[in-house]
Amino acid sequence: RLGWPGVIEAYRAFLPVGPRTPVVTLLEGGTPLLEAPKLSARVGARVLLKLEGMNPTGSFKDRGMTMAITKALEAGAKAVVCASTGNTSASAAAYAARAGLRAAVLIPEGHIALGKLAQALVHGARVLQVRGNFDEALRIVRELGERAPVTVVNSVNPDRLEGQKTGAFEIVDELGDAPDLHCLPVGNAGNITAYWRGYLEYREAGRVTRLPRMLGFQAKGAAPIVEGRVVERPETIATAIRIGNPASWRGAEAAAAESGGAIAAVSDEEILDAYRFLAVEESVFCEAASAAAVAGLLRSEVPRGATVVCVLTGHGLKDPDLAISQIQVPDAVEPTFGAVTEALGL
Ligand code: F0G
Repeated sequence: RLGWPGVIEAYRAFLPVGPRTPVVTLLEGGTPLLEAPKLSARVGARVLLKLEGMNPTGSFKDRGMTMAITKALEAGAKAVVCASTGNTSASAAAYAARAGLRAAVLIPEGHIALGKLAQALVHGARVLQVRGNFDEALRIVRELGERAPVTVVNSVNPDRLEGQKTGAFEIVDELGDAPDLHCLPVGNAGNITAYWRGYLEYREAGRVTRLPRMLGFQAKGAAPIVEGRVVERPETIATAIRIGNPASWRGAEAAAAESGGAIAAVSDEEILDAYRFLAVEESVFCEAASAAAVAGLLRSEVPRGATVVCVLTGHGLKDPDLAISQIQVPDAVEPTFGAVTEALGL
């Protein structure tokens, strides 16, 4: 949007920054809240989609990363490190490059979407593929944070959640109050924790008259919070949320409990149904993990006429392999008028 200053300048009063803090921004945030008419008709409520794929690196992670990199720079850090299922690494790579910091990212070998891997590499991060899953990579990164001269920019870094809570501010600023229901995918559980904090802080500030019920959705094969136990070998087509031991587990539980919401699981099949529905009926191309929010909404009890916000956390172009697996790539035709009209049945 014209003149949008990025989330730190937009919400400075709510963030741990001072007048001399060196703000590192790519003008993240200010993302569209799009009406979803077909989805609204299907669930009998007003459903809006928060398009976080419109952020500079194509996911919501940029909200937290502008804060984490800004604070790292302020503290004199030279290098940052993270474990990631892909989006955090893409965002860390971009913001670190902007700040002139070195970035190292640890990703689970063979289980990150191609677009995200490409981003981390083109922005010049040192990318290490780990022969293990996200949880194992994060364990090593936490240890690096304690024993090596690097700043961890995973959401275990409190500055990340500070930045991410601005998503809630934007929703309220646009709607004039909090929605009735807030749906989002849950992986490492930082985002649901941050959104809930955002709504609570806006209540403190007298900007809302009510709070939403927070509905968080994990993928069935990677649903530790739902099952109440660590999942050693998480599996789901939604690689972004292929996490078995979320760092903000408690935060997610608190958000669900305090808001009268829930954490529930959706199958890969439901996720893909929602992914295709969003693309075909709402013209929104999001990644599979994001579609989990809508898959979850579709299996939830929704009061008639309620206002519902689903956060679509990342852009569909992040994962071209998944997209192509969901459609049929057409055969080529001869470069003639006749061949084209015949192929189109005209
Ligand atoms: N949606 C997308 C597209 C994500 O990339 C993630 C997390 C989530 C949802 C879940 O958010 O972790 O705050 O509960 N991705 C992290 C990463 C883990 O490394 O990019 P969460």
